[in-house]
Amino acid sequence: MEIANRLRGQDSAIFSEMDRLRVVEEDKGRDIINLSIGSPDLPPPPHVVEALSSAVNDYNNYGYALTQGMKELRQAVADMYLKRFNVKLDPATEILSLMGSQDGLAHIYLAFINPGDWGLIPDPGYPIYSFGLFLAGGRKYPMPLVKDNDFLPDLSAIPEEIADKAKIMVLNYPNNPNAAVADKAFFEEIVKFARKHHIIVCHDVAYSELAYDGFSPDSFLSVPGAKEVGVEFYSVSKTYNMAGCRLGFVVGNSKVINALEKIKSNIDYGVFKPIQQAGIAALTGSQEWVRDLASTYAKRRDVLVDGLVELGWQVDKPKASMFVWLPVPKPFQHSIEFAMDLLKRAGVVVVPGIAFGDMGDKYVRLALVCSKERLQEVVDRISAHY
Ligand SMILES: Cc1ncc(COP(=O)(O)O)c(C=O)c1O
Repeated sequence: MEIANRLRGQDSAIFSEMDRLRVVEEDKGRDIINLSIGSPDLPPPPHVVEALSSAVNDYNNYGYALTQGMKELRQAVADMYLKRFNVKLDPATEILSLMGSQDGLAHIYLAFINPGDWGLIPDPGYPIYSFGLFLAGGRKYPMPLVKDNDFLPDLSAIPEEIADKAKIMVLNYPNNPNAAVADKAFFEEIVKFARKHHIIVCHDVAYSELAYDGFSPDSFLSVPGAKEVGVEFYSVSKTYNMAGCRLGFVVGNSKVINALEKIKSNIDYGVFKPIQQAGIAALTGSQEWVRDLASTYAKRRDVLVDGLVELGWQVDKPKASMFVWLPVPKPFQHSIEFAMDLLKRAGVVVVPGIAFGDMGDKYVRLALVCSKERLQEVVDRISAHY
């Protein structure tokens, strides 16, 4: 049995090797703290679980669901976008439900990329951006995200002929893995660039609601002209701790949304209706719960970042996201080397930055997915071993 060429060299060797090492250490009876996963450790809001369980008991909810998503759900998304971002969306043509934003981010390329077409992809970046492009036969032009440029892509560094040929640009703020944020001025620059070069902008806002110290991330669609050039991928996974439910949305340019809907309707059906009901409850219920969640993450961030800074580590305090992007310390040269050492010596699992692209190799990513007490333990262990 021979696997297709497109899968060769695409195994997530780094993740499986880190996981193998974690199991080896755990089998020795060690207490391992796992900060590698980006999956929330806390439960969803009780009103969401109630909506889900009562919808599960309704036998009318077991038929195929429409790809587009229930009307009530699309209306709830439109209402939320207006209230939260001051962005008007037409629920009939500018909103499509997704089986998690990953579904849309994986399939969008099939609607627009012909073999050999260029996609502008952030490096480091969430892996599906590259993998989806690759599956569609596209070519990746990496946009380096470096600290000196606040982890924003330098548009002037993209060669004119690549920009002219590129079909899609992917952006993600607040960012995974580096936790950087973007402002409206940056989005305005992106709109200008996308208009000039006829590029579709795909902005991923998976972490828009996990923001701290009064900071409130903007929607890309909130700047003039954005809807003419792009779409935004919104997720309930992190905002409401619903990662396993698989629910997200793509909103914005109706032509882009229509093309993606065509691809999706040939591949699958809509999201299981009880999950859509849970999404409606999440979006229309009190958002006080989300603010409390963000403040829980902020306290965790403070324990970890303040603790590391006190030990002399140079690490930025994130304004948003659920991640800390920690520079690889001397004498280590590469992220894998440091991540493995951290696991062996301190019993802490992190993701080597190279897993997100070559530009990530001088960092490791720590996810704030355990309690303050456990994060204090991480600081103590690092203090003891480095
Ligand atoms: C930046 C980013 N985008 C998208 C996703 C996928 O989220 P979803 O659960 O909505 O598919 C994740 C998940 O970790 C992510 O970190």
